[in-house]
Amino acid sequence: MAKNWKTKLIHPEVHAPEGFRSLADPVYRGSTVVFPDAASIRESWNPYKDGYTYGVYGTPTTLELAVRVCDLERGFRTHITPGGQAAISLANLSFLKAGDHILLPENIYGPNRKFCAQVMRRFGVEVEFYPAVDPKQGAAAVAALLRENTRLVWCESPGSITMEIQDVPAIAEAAHRAGALVFIDNTWSAGVFFDAFAHGVDVSVQALTKYVGGHSDILLGAITVLDEEAYARVASTHQIVGAVASPDDCSLALRGMKTLAVRLKSVEESALTLARWLAERTEIELVLHPAFSSCPGHEFWKRDFTGSAGLFSIVFRKQFTRSQVHAFIDKLELFAIGYSWAGVTSIVMTYDLEGTSGRPDYGSRLVRLNIGLEDVEDLRRDLEQALAGLG
Ligand SMILES: Cc1ncc(COP(=O)(O)O)c(C=O)c1O
Repeated sequence: MAKNWKTKLIHPEVHAPEGFRSLADPVYRGSTVVFPDAASIRESWNPYKDGYTYGVYGTPTTLELAVRVCDLERGFRTHITPGGQAAISLANLSFLKAGDHILLPENIYGPNRKFCAQVMRRFGVEVEFYPAVDPKQGAAAVAALLRENTRLVWCESPGSITMEIQDVPAIAEAAHRAGALVFIDNTWSAGVFFDAFAHGVDVSVQALTKYVGGHSDILLGAITVLDEEAYARVASTHQIVGAVASPDDCSLALRGMKTLAVRLKSVEESALTLARWLAERTEIELVLHPAFSSCPGHEFWKRDFTGSAGLFSIVFRKQFTRSQVHAFIDKLELFAIGYSWAGVTSIVMTYDLEGTSGRPDYGSRLVRLNIGLEDVEDLRRDLEQALAGLG
């Protein structure tokens, strides 16, 4: 059929030569997926079984990221979501119903806590928090709180901000004995330093925003599961919730993954160097780095982890006031002040834990450091001059 030039803008008759083989992962954007004929039309959220049917259920770019994260986490299948918190919410929504009881550690990532305490409770889920300040007591605390209707137990190791390492295998054993599932926020380990599934976890969630992305320029999340049943459960909820990740962001995450190993190695070494140096400073009471014996649950890190990331916290001695801690942060030149972590830039953040339930009494003296890829001696000198400013 002869076409008007305007029609040809939409249905072109000319194409670039095929056969371009690039080292970069292509970006496939698309809502509509074109079927070859009417007989091929089908509606399925399972692209692994039925092929592609609609952009919401996956594009080659989102699924390429999914299979690679899954391989890294040694799972069965991975779902990609538009942010780490979206992965957390979707994991909760996929497995919970009214009447279920769930347990979360007191030190879990704040928005996960809020999602459960506010949204899941509103939908009839009984939400309870277990103590995590003393990781040696964690499994016993979970065992004591398990009920007949406990559907799942969340873990996060190290816990957000205060960095306690959990005895995940013991918690998993107690939870499984009671018929409950175990979910973990495995973001700190990047799915690399902690093999969640080998330690009894059933569902592993990661904010790919952090180490996989690695450059503070995307928001993505992942839910990795161990079997077809769990995959289908998350997939059907994912479809209805419509938490779709952008293929452009996924392509950046795929690029980030290629340098994950070298970035992790570098930030691990730099963080250890700086944490060692900070531990010697008279201003610092406590270094909350999982590889240090001063970090609660360090023995579980030693037993279960294969390395450490670039995120840790320090606690100033009691004589330092909130405004002195702020002055220290303001004086830093190389550390950006902001939320999030795991990018190439060093970041600093402080948290006021005064009166917070379930956290050690660090008051307003805790500072969290994300170590980036800057020269470690420059970072040390920056910390030194900021500490000197405290007088
Ligand atoms: C431990 C942890 N889990 C999950 C998230 C959520 O990730 P996102 O910011 O991509 O929603 C964060 C973000 O700070 C985090 O620190």
